[in-house]
Amino acid sequence: MGSCKDQEEKQAKCVFVHGPIIVGAGPSGLAVSACLSQQGVPSLILEKSDCIASLWQNKTYDRLKLHLPKQFCELPLLGFPENFPKYPTKHQFIAYIESYASHFKIQPRFKQAVQKAVFDHVSGFWKVRTQDSEYISKWLIVATGENAEPVIPEIVGIEKFNGPVVHTSEYKSGSEFRNQKVLVVGCGNSGMEVSLDLCRHNAIPHMVVRNSVHVLPREIFGFSTFGIAMALLKWLPLRLVDKVLILLANITLGSTDQLGLRRPKTGPIELKNITGKTPVLDVGALSQIKSGKIKVMEGVKEITRNGARFTDGQEKEIDSVILATGYKSNVPTWLKKCEFFTKDGMPKTPFPNGWKGENGLYTVGFTRRGLRGTAFDAVKIATDIAEQWRKFMDCNNNNNNNNSNKNSCNSHVILLGKS
Ligand SMILES: Cc1cc2nc3c(=O)[nH]c(=O)nc-3n(C[C@H](O)[C@H](O)[C@H](O)COP(=O)(O)OP(=O)(O)OC[C@H]3O[C@@H](n4cnc5c(N)ncnc54)[C@H](O)[C@@H]3O)c2cc1C
Ligand SMILES: NC(=O)c1ccc[n+]([C@@H]2O[C@H](COP(=O)([O-])OP(=O)(O)OC[C@H]3O[C@@H](n4cnc5c(N)ncnc54)[C@H](OP(=O)(O)O)[C@@H]3O)[C@@H](O)[C@H]2O)c1
Repeated sequence: MGSCKDQEEKQAKCVFVHGPIIVGAGPSGLAVSACLSQQGVPSLILEKSDCIASLWQNKTYDRLKLHLPKQFCELPLLGFPENFPKYPTKHQFIAYIESYASHFKIQPRFKQAVQKAVFDHVSGFWKVRTQDSEYISKWLIVATGENAEPVIPEIVGIEKFNGPVVHTSEYKSGSEFRNQKVLVVGCGNSGMEVSLDLCRHNAIPHMVVRNSVHVLPREIFGFSTFGIAMALLKWLPLRLVDKVLILLANITLGSTDQLGLRRPKTGPIELKNITGKTPVLDVGALSQIKSGKIKVMEGVKEITRNGARFTDGQEKEIDSVILATGYKSNVPTWLKKCEFFTKDGMPKTPFPNGWKGENGLYTVGFTRRGLRGTAFDAVKIATDIAEQWRKFMDCNNNNNNNNSNKNSCNSHVILLGKS
């Protein structure tokens, strides 16, 4: 196997990984590692930050709670504790993920930012490069998430703005914005919830809604809207389910169009499936919009030194800008010479078949279906790799039957030394 030969990579340690390499120690990476370990397959997780579930620990706001009931957010093999509420807080979710990792004895290698991964057609191995090592394996599992990097839009004049400009991934609480006029750009779940949080801290959010958006209640008559949709989809066609959801939403919330939140023509589930655009599940922002505490604004035309001009001609003074403009995958920045992903870093093959690529490449958590999608992928990947693993081990054991130097199947990393 030719490896570690490039001049600039001379100082890199070469590490042969006995089992798959998983990139990312978020819920997806941990779930697939747990499923593999249950099938007797060792794996190694490379994580760029210094903790597991870094998105949840470092890039989410204090008041975040799961939107979906906990049974829809469980990872495989180990559910949430019984005493957790229906909608766990982010701190409870992190505690669950930590106990999940310790239950399955998962120990990622932290501070290993994967800079480049490429399949070597000559050796038939993946070469995965971090800042100080090159890891080599037959299998590469991409678990870096759909929300790896913030989307920072180009807005005319934003560089001239006098006040702070932060993305929601840096926002913790409205306490830092007390009594301020805040421009919240974007009206997805983040934009709505941050606007609500700002209201609770006596700030005055101006939320930019440049497009149509589906707002649904989180619950309808005490039942989770998501749960109702899942149940109906077992019996009814998707478009009919969408119609039922909109009817129920209109009964519970009233018409959102009058509030400046126009509904898209395509229904919420169909839109999510086609574009990935998540419907907003309302947890209180709508009543603040109705009462005028959250001000809905049309698209931003321009940011000035101390305010904003909008596409409808209005001008407002603004103290701070919060970009609730969403996230993107970072796969194209590090996975090279790979046709499996789009330029946006999502698998080209749609759900439910996007989990497996070629040459031992797998993806977990790119289904646009949140943690339920993660659980689906993780089980499929582990079953698929375990089958190959058993053949590989049988073959290895036969070849090395009397070789006293053979490597233990349980030790997942063999250090090959510096090149
Ligand atoms: C505010 C917010 C709330 C959400 N709430 C829900 C919810 O209630 N329910 C739900 O189902 N989904 C929710 N989601 C979606 C959420 O992204 C997933 O639930 C979950 O975090 C996905 O897990 P993941 O492991 O695929 O990705 P992530 O959690 O993003 O984990 C990916 C990991 O990969 C690491 N990584 C990235 N690039 C590299 C690299 N080059 N090298 C090494 N490591 C790397 C990252 O540091 C990170 O730790 C929410 C998302 C956001 C932003
Ligand atoms: N409690 C929870 O469970 C919770 C909370 C928050 C987020 N989440 C999840 O996290 C993921 C990300 O959510 P998100 O709300 O951060 O991102 P998002 O759903 O991608 O929404 C981004 C928003 O920003 C708008 N936008 C982007 N660029 C813009 C621009 N230049 N000008 C004006 N508006 C712009 C988009 O408008 P367009 O539609 O016009 O592009 C959209 O309204 C989703 O899956 C979401 O469900 C979950």
